[in-house]
Amino acid sequence: MNAISHDVSKPAIAPGSEGSKLAALNAWVAEVAALTQPDAIHWCDGSDAENAKLVAQMQADGTLIKLNEQTHPNSWLHRSHPDDVARVEHLTFVCTSEQEDAGPNNHWMSPADGHKQMDALFAGCMKGRTMYVIPYCMGPIDSPLSRCGVEITDSPYVVANMRIMTRMGAPALARIEREGKFVRGLHSIGELDPERRFIMHFPEELTIKSYGSGYGGNALLGKKCHALRIASHQARNEGWLAEHMLILGLENPQGETHYVAAAFPSACGKTNLAMLIPPEGYRAQGWKVWTVGDDICWMRPGADGRLYAINPEAGFFGVAPGTSRKSNPNALASIRHDTIFTNVGVTADNQPWWEGIDNGDTPVTDWRGNVYDAAKGPAAHPNSRFTVSAKQCPSYSEQAENPAGVPISAIVFGGRRASLVPLVFEARDWTHGVLVGAAMGSETTAAATGAVGVMRRDPMAMKPFCGYNFADYFSHWLSFDKTGAKLPKIFHVNWFRKGDDGKFLWPGFGDNLRVLEWMIQRVKGEAGSIETPIGHLPADGDLNLDGITLGEEARAKLFGFDHAGWQAEFASIGEYLDEYGPRMPQQLKDEQQRIARDLAG
Ligand code: GDP
Ligand code: PGA
Ligand code: MN
Ligand code: MN
Repeated sequence: MNAISHDVSKPAIAPGSEGSKLAALNAWVAEVAALTQPDAIHWCDGSDAENAKLVAQMQADGTLIKLNEQTHPNSWLHRSHPDDVARVEHLTFVCTSEQEDAGPNNHWMSPADGHKQMDALFAGCMKGRTMYVIPYCMGPIDSPLSRCGVEITDSPYVVANMRIMTRMGAPALARIEREGKFVRGLHSIGELDPERRFIMHFPEELTIKSYGSGYGGNALLGKKCHALRIASHQARNEGWLAEHMLILGLENPQGETHYVAAAFPSACGKTNLAMLIPPEGYRAQGWKVWTVGDDICWMRPGADGRLYAINPEAGFFGVAPGTSRKSNPNALASIRHDTIFTNVGVTADNQPWWEGIDNGDTPVTDWRGNVYDAAKGPAAHPNSRFTVSAKQCPSYSEQAENPAGVPISAIVFGGRRASLVPLVFEARDWTHGVLVGAAMGSETTAAATGAVGVMRRDPMAMKPFCGYNFADYFSHWLSFDKTGAKLPKIFHVNWFRKGDDGKFLWPGFGDNLRVLEWMIQRVKGEAGSIETPIGHLPADGDLNLDGITLGEEARAKLFGFDHAGWQAEFASIGEYLDEYGPRMPQQLKDEQQRIARDLAG
């Protein structure tokens, strides 16, 4: 029997589904309940009391394990199913009426087949479970750039994470009731069987169906599924951009702040750059970095022609391994309390632990809950994560809640490239910048299942997230270059260039500020560069390297231009663009050919 309750501890109030003032929402909830047959329905209000009850329930059934209350107040460890630790790109589908609209960049199924396959999985899947209805808002609750959704799930872990990652509960429901329009996300952990796991998107219906996984990117539907796949589709129709980008504010000693948006593939440094702490010398002069967002950016042209951006999220779902007091002190300060850790190891006194935490502690239990044995692999899963409210971050920008968004001065693309790609270069203009984004390549990471360290094209870090044909996506990007537009400058960075010894040549992390400084100087027309066929590179002396030592090899590889290597790279970029056939904008192909000719000449 279906029952409505606003209180998780209370049994059924009444059958039916009048949980909201919006008939369409009630009808959908009733329809889902009829399909999934939960024992109870709970409408989430997002209150502290509701969260406390859910957490207590999860502690009782072992879903959450309490961590050391003295060192990590109100913090929890979740151990996922060992086969459910990352996004599953091969099981992620975009279901558009026309296959061409999904493009070669997506797995496709017809909407009818997609619904049929998913509904068969969902039938009766919530028997014995409570169905949670989560109204959420992506972006500041009062921003015209924000968009709302409702996720239905049978996972209280998902509820607790959505509460941190989105503006969830009563205020979101009020906005949904006012607007009448919302993204519908249906999720069940099902049996957590990789053979019965699919993440399907129906962008034309603003609908998501996700079954068989509890992992963040597959299960917190507000994040990748809504804010990137569905939103990118919506953004194209409405004239804005939904991107896999961090947003930071760079404040100089004069107190001016410039905002930068940067797209790097998963586990390639977005969270770290967004929370950067300037090197000592810069700090002393008054340089500061403010965090607006660490993963997703929604941008739209404002009345003055500039692009204005909001972070649709309210929290950080960050990679734990490698996070230390040295690499990312702001992240470490953020996660000292009220944090959910997923798949990390634990110490003898029950503190979270991961490789690279570098705090002198040692793990005794690994992420699966077994006695830690270095011979059997890392203590923390390489894609272990923390979920924490952005408000806990010391560098959280007060502009992050501005409903108008922040004006973007520079867009940065980047990836993991052990060879060829220099530390930084600047695109000549918007069209060239779109090509730089479209041609992005990066070595794969543990954020998705499959081989790690394999170079693949990941245009604008959106390969796993663009909800429509990349050819149309690049056309959409090109369309922003019109009369009156005051577009940001576009750059490319590579923090991951390696030397012959296999070690990173650039110190990275805080020292990346030096690169941001050059970019903003370029925006203001104050810094030099040398022009090459691939764009402008900083010449000797253009980038401030005071206080760091770079050897001969490092300087040559970080700031040099490998002519023959780029010739081969441009041939490969040309082949990649051709994979999209005649739909690929000619303007982009012309740009690629112009540079290829330049390189040949
Ligand atoms: P995100 O998933 O894109 O947000 O990436 P993160 O910021 O979480 O970083 C992913 C991994 O890359 C972590 O292990 C970081 O320690 C590492 N990383 C981040 N920034 C840098 C950098 O500038 N240099 C190097 N060498 N590693 C970095
Ligand atoms: P990330 O976010 O980009 O911070 O790794 C999760 C993901 O993209 O899967
Ligand atoms: Mn991401
Ligand atoms: Mn991140």
